Amino acid sequence: MTTLSPLFDLGSQPLIDARTELIREVLDGLRSRPRTLKPWILYDDLGSRLFEQITDLPEYYPTRTERSLLSRHANAIVASVTDGSQPLRVVELGAGSASKTCLLLAAATRLHLDVVYMPLDVSGDALDLACTNIQNSFPEVLIEPMVVNYVDSPPQLEEFEGSTLALYLGTSIGNFTPTESRTILRNLGSQLTRQDAFLLGTDLVKDESSLIAAYQDSQGVTAAFNLNILNRLNRELDADFDLSGFRHCARWNSFESRIEMHLESTRSQAIQIPAAGLKLDFRTGETIHTENSYKFTDETIRALLFDSGFAPQMTWKDARQWYALTLSHTCE
Ligand code: AVJ
Repeated sequence: MTTLSPLFDLGSQPLIDARTELIREVLDGLRSRPRTLKPWILYDDLGSRLFEQITDLPEYYPTRTERSLLSRHANAIVASVTDGSQPLRVVELGAGSASKTCLLLAAATRLHLDVVYMPLDVSGDALDLACTNIQNSFPEVLIEPMVVNYVDSPPQLEEFEGSTLALYLGTSIGNFTPTESRTILRNLGSQLTRQDAFLLGTDLVKDESSLIAAYQDSQGVTAAFNLNILNRLNRELDADFDLSGFRHCARWNSFESRIEMHLESTRSQAIQIPAAGLKLDFRTGETIHTENSYKFTDETIRALLFDSGFAPQMTWKDARQWYALTLSHTCE
C-alpha cells in the first residue's frame, strides 16, 4: 500500500490500524441480532463522494438549510465570540469538505481578525480536503489540522491567546446515540474556556414523509450510499455480498426520534467474509442496521447541551423550522 505524503502536518494522536478496526466492527456487528454495522464504515472514498452527492439532492434539505442559516448569521456568530481585538481560533469537529466553514471564516476575515483554523477528523484524507479548500480561499488563515478520534477522547487543544469558536455542523451529532453525543460534547467542552463559544447544527423533527424522502431519494443516491457498505466489505475483506440481494430502506423510529437506515436481504442467502473468518446466513427480510440520524426538538437540544456542560445562548432556525444552529458557552 502506498501513502501519499500529506499536504499538511496532521498533528499527533495515532490511530489503530484501519483494517483491524474494520474486521473488529464486522465481527461484532454482523454476528449480533439485530445485525448492525457502524456508520463510519459507510465513509470510504466512494461513500464520501456519494455523501457529497446526497447533500445536493432536492430531497436532502439539511445541507442547504444550514448553509443559508450560516450565510445569514455568520457576522452575529463571529461577533458573539470576539470583539475584534484578539485572534480567533475556529476548531471544527468532523470538518468534511469544510464548504460551509468558509462562510464563517469570511465573516472573521472581514473583521481583519487573525484567524487560526483547526479542523479535527478521524480521517487524514478528509482533513487534506478541508485544508486545501480553506487554504485556497483564505491564504491569510493559519491552518492547523489534527487527526483525532474525538468520539473516544478529548481533542487536547493547546492554550490559545484569543478566543475559540468550536463548530460541530451538518447534524453530524445525529449519527450518535444520546449517551455518545454527551460524551463527545463533554470532551469538547473540557477544552474550552468561558470566553469561547460552541456552534452546533442539528436537524429538527418534522413530518415523517419529508424525513423519509430525505433518506430515500428518488434518484437512488442514498440507496447506493448505503449499499456501498457491502461493496466495501467485498473490496476490503473479500466478502461475496451480491448487492442485488439487498434493498436499502429508511425508517422513522418515532420512539427514539431517529431515521434509521437498513439493508434488507431480499432472499435467503449465505455470505462469506473470509478476512473476518465469517459465514453468515440471511433469512428473507433480515436486515443490517447501518446508520442512525437523530432528529431534535428545542427541548432535546437544550437537554443535550446542558447535560454536556454548555449553556445555550442563541438559536437560529429557518422559516420552516426544519434545522437549528445553536450557540452556547461553557457553564464551568
Ligand atoms: C452525515 C450523519 C449528518 O444523518 O443526514 C445522509 C448522513 N446518511 N443520508 C445524516 C446521511 C444518509 C448524514 N450525516
